[in-house]
Order: sequence, then structure tokens, then C-alpha cells
Amino acid sequence: MSTTGNHRTWRIGVAGLGTVGSGLLGFLSERPDYALEGGRVVVTGVSARSRSRSRPVDISRLPWFDDPVALAQSPDIDIFVELVGGSDGPAKAAVEAALEAGKAVVTANKALIAEHGAELAALAESRGVPLLFEAAVMGGVPAVKIVREALVGEDIRSLSGILNGTCNYILTEMETSGSAFADVLAEAQRLGYAEADPTMDVGGFDAAHKITILAALAFGGSPNFAAAEIHGITGVDLLDIRLAGDLGYRVKLIASAERAGTGARVRVRPFLVRKTHPIAQADGALNALFIEGSRIGRIFLQGPGAGAGPTAAAVAADIADVMAGARRPVFQAPAEALSPCAPSEDVAAKGRGYIRVMVRDEPGVLAAVSEELAEAGVSIESFLQKPPGEAAGVPIVMTTHTVAESVLDAAVARIARLPAVLEPPRLLHIAGI
Ligand SMILES: NC(=O)c1ccc[n+]([C@@H]2O[C@H](COP(=O)([O-])OP(=O)(O)OC[C@H]3O[C@@H](n4cnc5c(N)ncnc54)[C@H](OP(=O)(O)O)[C@@H]3O)[C@@H](O)[C@H]2O)c1
Repeated sequence: MSTTGNHRTWRIGVAGLGTVGSGLLGFLSERPDYALEGGRVVVTGVSARSRSRSRPVDISRLPWFDDPVALAQSPDIDIFVELVGGSDGPAKAAVEAALEAGKAVVTANKALIAEHGAELAALAESRGVPLLFEAAVMGGVPAVKIVREALVGEDIRSLSGILNGTCNYILTEMETSGSAFADVLAEAQRLGYAEADPTMDVGGFDAAHKITILAALAFGGSPNFAAAEIHGITGVDLLDIRLAGDLGYRVKLIASAERAGTGARVRVRPFLVRKTHPIAQADGALNALFIEGSRIGRIFLQGPGAGAGPTAAAVAADIADVMAGARRPVFQAPAEALSPCAPSEDVAAKGRGYIRVMVRDEPGVLAAVSEELAEAGVSIESFLQKPPGEAAGVPIVMTTHTVAESVLDAAVARIARLPAVLEPPRLLHIAGI
């Protein structure tokens, strides 16, 4: 950092010049006055895979580094901005190198922070430099800042959100167009809304990375991605979206973290959400987050979870925090005092269920299904029986009262063994929000 009078010049190295990196350079070139506390930002190095690739921003006059690690170690930068992506490989090596060299790090990389946040926080704190990651969760929506800073004095009970825009887009399209998952995914890939390899998104892993980070901040631990329970949307059937709609629900991929004993349970799973709930109304590629706390009651955030502009704005906000002298632990306490965020033992997850059973259209089936549920200890809240459709058999749909999830699983296994049941029953959980 160089100082001229009151104006400090902060030299920035940007590794990764894709959607977010180019967005950031565009933002910084449009806002040459972008400054805080009398400071000034100058990009003094960039790195990506290909130097010759055509990009939406002109990088011809910026010092080029083939290797992001060399950029991270360069004596010509004060802040290293990592926008390469991936939990390991060059992103991790470069962030470690920057922290080792005593540089502040700003990253949008949720996989890196969710999977290696504890060790990177320890390294940053040992060197006395900030490690900031606002853009890693919900893109342009300042969820990290709200949970990490604004709600630091709150006793947060739960977080539930739509944290993956691709899944939300696919589920919304299935509902509105009446097309099956595979068809909507193929169309989303054609339009560039979904990656060629969509596993991180539709498998629930991207949302799990994000909720892992928020859970660590909300519940005072370190990120523990390995403890997250993850189910994606690949098994969501169009028929269930329609039937859930008839019952007054929408199917959403919900990433949630809730207090469980002295720790917290983190999971990602398709849930039925009441249509009237604000989370159910976040459609298309939007992200949304519902925070419940003992003093604040409820807070709802919604906005763009991705895209060059919103994400670059979040990265720029972190750079501004570094310039203003950010001096907090990376998570809620010094890394050495944190243990991995996980539920304490013996806290049974409970909830309501939606069960769909395809049965032969014959007398006594409904009674047999009800009997199995009763014997398993599950009480039915509502029944919906539809006339036969195109599929073989007749769907019987039930919602249940609140019960331990293990009891619900056991009840579904019993129903599956009935002779009149034509295919494995579908169980979806109903969000308790
Ligand atoms: N896209 C979003 O809206 C969004 C939102 C929130 C967070 N994020 C996060 O932001 C990060 C970047 O995402 P993105 O969408 O901008 O990714 P992207 O468009 O795929 O860009 C990745 C960049 O990294 C560079 N790169 C890849 N491997 C490299 C290597 N070995 N050495 C040097 N550079 C390398 C690529 O170089 P080339 O250009 O030469 O190939 C490219 O410029 C990720 O962690 C992502 O999860 C993205």
C-alpha cells in the first residue's frame, strides 16, 4: 500500500477473469473514484487460464500472471481477490499463498470456504489479515454481513433459504410449464442457466456450501461441510409438484440450518413450502433467506444470488471493508476457539410429511395404507385421492402431523410392502417455516 497525503492506494490482484472477475474489473473501471476513507483502488495484477481469451473488459494494460500463486505472492499487491473457483487446486493454493504473505484476501468461493474455512481462518488470523467472502453466499444479497455483523448479538434459531438459483429456476419452470425435470434441465443448459455438468447445482452441493458458511456464522462454529445432509432435486417428480400445488404448497430446494441441542443441523432438501410463505414466492433464479431469532423474530431477504453485476458489487464491498480496516475474526470467534458446526447427539429431527403412493384401484387399499401409518405411529392430517391419470394406478396423497423423521421413514417402508402398492412411495418433507 502506498500513501500520498490522506490518500492511500490499495493495490489489488485479481485471479479469475470469468463472470465475476470481469464483472469486478468492469465495476472498477466504471468507478475510478471508487474509494473509501480517502483510499483509491488500483488493479496491479491479473491472472486467468488463458491470456489471449476475448473478455468483456480490456486487460491489455494490466500486469499479467500465468500463475495465480505468483500473483498472490507479488510484492505489488495489498489485497488478493480470488475469483477462480473450486474447493482445492489453484484457488486454494493461491489463497494460502496470499495469507502466508500477509495479504488481505477477498473471495467469492463458497466451496473453498465451506470445505477449508477453518484452516484458512486460522492462517489469516495468525497473519493478522482479513479473509472476506460476502459474494460466496447469495451473490448480491448481503447475507454474510447480516448474519456475521448485524445479527451478532442475536440468538439465531434457524436459517432457511433458497440458495441455488439454478434449482429454483428448474423447479419454477417445471411448475409453470408442466415439463419434466430432464426436459427443463436440458433447456436451462441450452440457455446457459445451468452448467454443462449440473451436479454441483442439482445435486444440492452448491446450496450446501452456502448454508454451511451461514450456519458457522449464525451458530458460532467453523464450517463443517462434511456434516451437511444433502439431497438435490434430481428425484423431484412433476406429479408431486402438481399434487403439492393442489394441497396449497410449492416444492422448493431449501437449505436450512437450525439449532440442534448445543450445535446445529445443516441440510439441503426439496421441501413443500406453503404457497403463502415469502420463500415460496421467490421464483425463477432468485435467492431468498428467512432468518428466525429469539429477539428479532423473523427477517426475510430476497434478491439476485448470482450474475456479474450483483456478485462483483459484493466483492467490491469486501474490498471496501479491507480498506476501512476490517478487524473481526473470520467467523464469530478466533478460529482456535471454534469447533465444527454439527448437531449435538440424540436430537431427533421432526417434521411433517407428504407421502404419495401409487396403488391399484381396488377396494380396501386406502384402509390398508391408513392402518400401516397408524401402526407406525404416524397420524394423517389430510388425504387427497385423485382419479387415475396417465400413469399406472391411482395416486393417494397424504400429509401427516409432526413426527420424528425416522418414524416417517419407517412408515413409508411399511407402505411400500403392501401388495396393492405399485411403486416405491414418494416422501417429501413439509417445511416447518
Ligand atoms: N458466476 C456467479 O454469478 C457467481 C456468484 C457467486 C459466486 N461465484 C463464485 O465466484 C467464483 C468465480 O465464478 P465465475 O462464475 O466467475 O467463474 P468462471 O466464469 O468459470 O471464471 C473462472 C475464472 O478462473 C480462471 N481459471 C480457471 N482455472 C484457472 C487456473 N488454473 N489458473 C488461473 N485462472 C484459472 C478462468 O480462466 P479463463 O477465463 O482463462 O478460462 C476464469 O477466468 C467461483 O468461486 C464461484 O463459485 C460466482
